[in-house]
Amino acid sequence: MHKSVLLNEAIEGLNIKPDGTYIDATLGFAGHSGEILRELETEGFLFAFDQDENAVNYSNEKLKTIGNNYKIFHTNFKNMKDFIGTKVDGILFDLGVSSPQLDDAERGFSFHKDAPLDMRMDKRNPLSAYEVVNNYRLDELINILYVYGEEANAKSIGKAIVNNRPIKTTLELAEIIKNNVPESYRNKSNPCRKTFQAIRIEVNDELRILETSIKDAFDLLKSNGRLCIITFHSLEDRIVKEVFKELSSDNELAKKLPIVPDEMKAKGKLITKKAIIPSDNEIKENKRSRSAKLRIIEKI
Ligand SMILES: C[S@@+](CC[C@H](N)C(=O)[O-])C[C@H]1O[C@@H](n2cnc3c(N)ncnc32)[C@H](O)[C@@H]1O
Repeated sequence: MHKSVLLNEAIEGLNIKPDGTYIDATLGFAGHSGEILRELETEGFLFAFDQDENAVNYSNEKLKTIGNNYKIFHTNFKNMKDFIGTKVDGILFDLGVSSPQLDDAERGFSFHKDAPLDMRMDKRNPLSAYEVVNNYRLDELINILYVYGEEANAKSIGKAIVNNRPIKTTLELAEIIKNNVPESYRNKSNPCRKTFQAIRIEVNDELRILETSIKDAFDLLKSNGRLCIITFHSLEDRIVKEVFKELSSDNELAKKLPIVPDEMKAKGKLITKKAIIPSDNEIKENKRSRSAKLRIIEKI
């Protein structure tokens, strides 16, 4: 079952005008997009992006039942600027994988379900988890596990992966991880979580594109337009926080000037000084929401 995370908070954050134009950068199963479309009158318009074909097809059927003032692009949101030729009133990113992607064993995202090592959100992407696990050099693997997974056992897991090649399935990989971490770690939490997250981030190039994508999205906003971003782990949140800080501060050099020229002034204002997190109730109903954070910035 798919439950949209921070649904009301994100919709409220977008401050939707019924005749406005909005972008959902991560359509998924159209939980947020459905709500946006419901709030729009016929003069309003919704553009949506997803790199996952299943999400696009499912959501197209769903949105049809709500209205026809929308258009979906089956592409990476890093290409947003090439597809949108107009300024918009609000943009939402709800990053990461969706629960249907995690639940669909075949996609290879889950360490609980056996499947070929895949983890591609976009099946047109030539790089799959199989390539990363079986063909990356040891130092590259360790680096990915350490940086993208914040995995303290990156070295021992990396070495075990290289020594056990070829590794073909998710459960084979999970078993190798479990057998090569200290017992205390094995007992504390699922020892596979961070490694699987790291490989997924590498396969889908999730972090490298984020800063530029946020800045491109901000450029597309009209004055008073809102950008809302939901993240699910600290690495993503750090990038969002830093880019928002940069956009909402005067240029460093401006501090020395008696009069600050417009182009050196802050371009945005933070709507959330501290990230919004899900209520206890939401976390109880949807465990996946527990690490979610929503940050909002408004263009000046
Ligand atoms: C957390 S889900 C979104 C759920 C959605 N908000 C809902 O309520 O149904 C994230 C979605 O974004 C897509 N996605 C992640 N990164 C993407 C990217 N760089 N470009 C396009 N789509 C992306 C994933 O395929 C997934 O369907």
